[in-house]
Order: sequence, then C-alpha cells, then structure tokens
Amino acid sequence: MANSIRAVRGTRDLLPPETETWNFVEAAVRDLFRVYNFQEIRTPVLEDLQLFQRSVGEETDIVSKEMFAWEDRARAQSEKGQWLALRPENTAGVVRAYIEHKLWERPGLQRFYYIGPQFRRERPQKGRYRQFYQIGAEVIGPSAAGSESPSVDVELLEMLASLLDRLGIQGWNLNLNSVGCANDRPIYLQALRDALKDVVHAMCVDCQRRAETNPLRVLDCKVPEDQPVIEKLPRMNDYLDASCRAHFAEVQKILSAVSVPFTLDHRLVRGLDYYTRTAFEFTHGALGSQNAILGGGRYDGLSESLGGPPAPGIGFAIGEDRLVMTLQESAGVSVRPADVYVAPLGAGMNVHAAKLARELRRQGVAVITGDETFKLKKSLETASKLGARFALILGENEANSGQFALKNLSTGEQVTVGANAIAARVKAIA
Ligand code: HAM
Repeated sequence: MANSIRAVRGTRDLLPPETETWNFVEAAVRDLFRVYNFQEIRTPVLEDLQLFQRSVGEETDIVSKEMFAWEDRARAQSEKGQWLALRPENTAGVVRAYIEHKLWERPGLQRFYYIGPQFRRERPQKGRYRQFYQIGAEVIGPSAAGSESPSVDVELLEMLASLLDRLGIQGWNLNLNSVGCANDRPIYLQALRDALKDVVHAMCVDCQRRAETNPLRVLDCKVPEDQPVIEKLPRMNDYLDASCRAHFAEVQKILSAVSVPFTLDHRLVRGLDYYTRTAFEFTHGALGSQNAILGGGRYDGLSESLGGPPAPGIGFAIGEDRLVMTLQESAGVSVRPADVYVAPLGAGMNVHAAKLARELRRQGVAVITGDETFKLKKSLETASKLGARFALILGENEANSGQFALKNLSTGEQVTVGANAIAARVKAIA
C-alpha cells in the first residue's frame, strides 16, 4: 500500500457521533441569537493580509507568528501578487464588510453573528488547533445609535451567561477588565515601559521581547518566577480616564443588577490590539491549560483604523471546539439514532424499500434501509446495532398487501400496520 495521506497537522476530521454535539450547540446558539435579535453574517475565509495587520496588530502573536499567509500569483507579470491570509479571527472581516457595504446607512445598530472556521499556526495541543471554529457576535454602529452604551456590553455578557447555562455548562467564570482607550492607554503604556526598564532583565525571554514590542502582553505571562514582579507593575485601572472609568463602573452595575457573576481581573489584556474599554473572557476548569472558552471586548476605534467612519463596537467569539469539549465532559449529548430500519427481504424488494423510505422521510421519520440480499436475522441484528427504534419488514407479501410488520426493537413487540399509519405510530412512541 502506498503511504496514506493524513489530515494536516493541527486540523482534524469531526466525525459522527461528535458532529451531533456540534449540531446541537449550533442549533442552541442560533435559537438564542434569534431571541436576542442577531442576524447571521458570512464573510470569506480568505482576506487581504493587511486587514489583520491593521486590526489585530502586526506585533501580536496572531499576526507575527501564527498567520497562514502567502503572496498570491500576480495577475500580470508586471504586477506584484496580493498578500492573502486565512482569517485567524472574524471581527476584522465583519468590520471590513461593515465599511465596504456602508452598513451604517442601515437603521440602528448592526447585530451580527457568525459560525465558522478560523486558522492560526499555533502548536497543536488539547483544545488548540490550527483550524478551529468560532461562534461569534458583533454589535456595531454609530454612537448616535447607542453603540457605546454600557448596556450593550452587558447585553452580550448576559446572553453568554444564558447560553452556557442553557447548554448545562456549570462552573464557568467571567473575568472582566477595562483596557482603557486612545486617551489613557498611551499614558499607561509609558508608565508600564518605565517600570519594566528596571525589572525586565530578571524576567523570562518572552517578557523581555514583549517589553519592547507589546508591553501589555507582559501582563499575560504565566511563568511562575515572573509573577511577583508583574504584581508590582502599574495597573491599567489606575490610569483610566474619567469617561472610561464611568463606563466600566456602569457595566459592572448593570451586570450585577441582572445577576451575572464576574471577577475583576486587572491583568486581562487579550491578545489582539483593537480592544478598548471592556475586555472579558469566560473560562472553565475542565479545559486544562487552554481554559478560555470565549473572549471578547470593545473595539471603539477599529472602524476608523480600517478606513471607515467612527463606529464603536463590541463582540465576542466562542471557541466552538472548546465549548463542545466542555459539554462532552459535563452533560454529554447522545447520537440521535434512526427511527426506522426498513428491511427489504428478497429479490425486487429494494424498489419497494426505496419508495417506502422516501414516503416516511417526507413525513419527518428518520429512516435507514438495508438491502434485499440480507437475511431477516442479519437485518434485525443490523437494526439493533445501529440503535434504530423500529424495524419494518418488507417482503413480497407485505409489498402486495400494503400491510407491514413493525417491530419495536426495545420491547420486541410486533404489530401489523398499513403504509399510511407507520409514521404516526413511530412518532407516537417516543
Ligand atoms: P480570541 O480570544 O483570540 O478572540 O479567540 C476567541 C476564542 O477562540 C478563544 O477564547 C478560544 O476559545 C478560541 N480559540 C482561539 N484560538 C484557538 C485555537 N488555536 N484552537 C481552538 N480554539 C481557539 C477573538 O478571536 C476575537 N475576534 C473575539 C472578539 C469578537 N472580540 C470582539 N469581537
């Protein structure tokens, strides 16, 4: 046998029965998005590399180390190829679409959700893949339409808490911070740089690099020896300007009023540059080291930095792979078996089985069929193995009389039913 080709490192096939859990999650979130009045947006997986450089940020790990990007073939020899990238996240694409289609001309705030694959060249491990899936939402629009209101922040957080509760996920934590805005952030960054100057030589190599390129990320360091040093660094909270401070206080006040528990985490900075003000993550203990189920926050200046009009926004993205993993470790969703296994017996019966299966499926019954070469015993064994609830026996006599033997595979009870009564009978017995 020739060498077999395998899935690319960090990517994986999602197989049944696991896909049942994915569909269960997606159905639950679509239902939730409907009642919160979010609408679906689908943006391309492929974007111009510059989009991520200008939004997520060139100095972030995501853009500097983890992008799948390449120079595309030029259209003419005299031209240069365009640099393309597989999207590492979806917020940038949504904001690009908002600008490209002048969506601010639509009334009110734009409330989008998306479900789809994202790509980051990270070192694969449990809960971390190179192709992974996000379920996300973004609320964006002019300030005059209320996009800066702290109640928008809370609405998203409350929706997320409801989603996790609805899915039966217990033991989640909401970590919350304010990362300030264009007014106060530069002052804080200067204070951070000054403080780091004296201590960074004793910190890990990553911190030494980040102190230069992206000092906020020093706060993210997990190296135990660095923790006492980091605890003594200046805190963003002490540098928030009056309006950011008031905004954050209001978010906390409304959040408490709707009884969503949260923990303030002054070191929560997030790995993308576009964030302003509210930043958050939901974590779960069952996930191990990759414990963030979802993350998000405000990005009040993102539209302008991509060439659009002022359009404050806020959003989140759930790691669907991690959400499914948490569900499997807590509640668990079982595969939905077929309702009826149609067992054609003897030559010529496949035709009748196909007709009957088609009719039953039209009536909403989940059907799988056997083959006319199978003996009755093999058919019944197969039906049981597949977990079908009923077996329907279809031999020449049944085909002629239009009366079928319907066997309940959990009780063993067998009844004779006319073709038209099968669906009702199957649906009546849960
Ligand atoms: P993020 O924190 O980079 O935020 O990603 C959100 C979630 O995606 C993470 O909490 C995690 O669950 C999941 N995730 C990230 N990388 C991986 C990976 N390699 N494998 C599996 N899961 C992963 C964003 O992407 C922002 N766009 C969220 C946002 C939307 N902010 C505002 N709007």
